[in-house]
Amino acid sequence: MVGSMQHRPFARSGRSVSAIGLGTWQLGAEWGEVGDAEAEAILTTAIGSGIDFFDTADIYGGGRSEARIGRFLRNAHAPVFVATKLGRSRDPGWPRNFELDAMRRHAEGSRERLGVDALDLLQLHCVPEEVLRAGRIFDHLRALQQDGVIRAFGASVESSAEAKLCLAQDGLASLQIIFNVFRQTPIETIFDEARRRQVAIIVRLPLASGLLSGKFDARTRFGPDDHRSYNQDGEAFHAGETFAGLPFARGLELVEELRALTPPGLSLAAMAQRWILDHDAVTTVITGATRATQVRENARCASLAPLPLALHVRLRELWGARVRALVRGKD
Ligand SMILES: NC(=O)c1ccc[n+]([C@@H]2O[C@H](COP(=O)([O-])OP(=O)(O)OC[C@H]3O[C@@H](n4cnc5c(N)ncnc54)[C@H](OP(=O)(O)O)[C@@H]3O)[C@@H](O)[C@H]2O)c1
Repeated sequence: MVGSMQHRPFARSGRSVSAIGLGTWQLGAEWGEVGDAEAEAILTTAIGSGIDFFDTADIYGGGRSEARIGRFLRNAHAPVFVATKLGRSRDPGWPRNFELDAMRRHAEGSRERLGVDALDLLQLHCVPEEVLRAGRIFDHLRALQQDGVIRAFGASVESSAEAKLCLAQDGLASLQIIFNVFRQTPIETIFDEARRRQVAIIVRLPLASGLLSGKFDARTRFGPDDHRSYNQDGEAFHAGETFAGLPFARGLELVEELRALTPPGLSLAAMAQRWILDHDAVTTVITGATRATQVRENARCASLAPLPLALHVRLRELWGARVRALVRGKD
């Protein structure tokens, strides 16, 4: 299995990363409880399936996701590219999080939990657009890079406008964006410039928080500690981060239309991830998982054949005609 994983170059780093990566928000909190044994199985299965790119953040479970990854990698000795994020800690909170001393302290905390000398990649964690526009935060990232605290820096953003501000910054290695069959705007707004500047594209929410796996229906209920219950309409944080900004009920209807288009032998989750991988501007897709079996299935998408062109055309039409206008929040 490891041999069949496709790798793609990560910006100008000289490193390649698996086309399917692993999102580890689930190993922190806000997805219900993922116990230690399942967390370990998820990470072990990822490595065994050829995945060597993990995405985490300092605030996922108050550092629990990073600590679990750090513990795992100390024992596994696997060469994994770990991308983390900073900017949303409550200590000291906004706007002081965006000053160099706080950023240094937050990065040091991640370095400690992950057990590394230098962070492979430090991403801004959806910081306000005006902070990106002011640009000083990128000078701080460059200072941390010069000091050897981080090897590279990038930004996770909500909208195309924010992505463009980041793409204009020298030294930016990566952009993390929401991109899936329900969220196709980046094809028009970001991909050409990212390719031109050799900036890696990290795709989050490939399954729109699981909606695009096709396993939910109108009777589905999420636990009280799962953001899919308490942020369905953006009550707790940005609406786009839950179900990719779609109202759950409308999302379910659209999923049925997609199911009808799924080629024989392919699951809806596989079609959704393969669709993303068919865009060559994409470097890695960081699908999240609460079960090890999901990781194995997702990793296989990297070795599937590209989807037929006619299906790409149909999915583009469907998005333009019926989905685009439903997305809440910034796009
Ligand atoms: N602001 C940011 O920078 C930001 C925001 C959000 C996410 N992220 C990162 O992006 C990663 C991915 O996004 P995400 O986890 O929010 O959304 P996602 O990858 O679209 O959805 C993950 C969920 O999809 C379901 N799933 C995964 N594989 C499946 C399969 N093969 N079959 C059926 N269901 C499957 C699981 O749901 P169940 O748990 O119901 O089984 C899983 O928890 C996160 O883990 C995190 O690292 C970053």
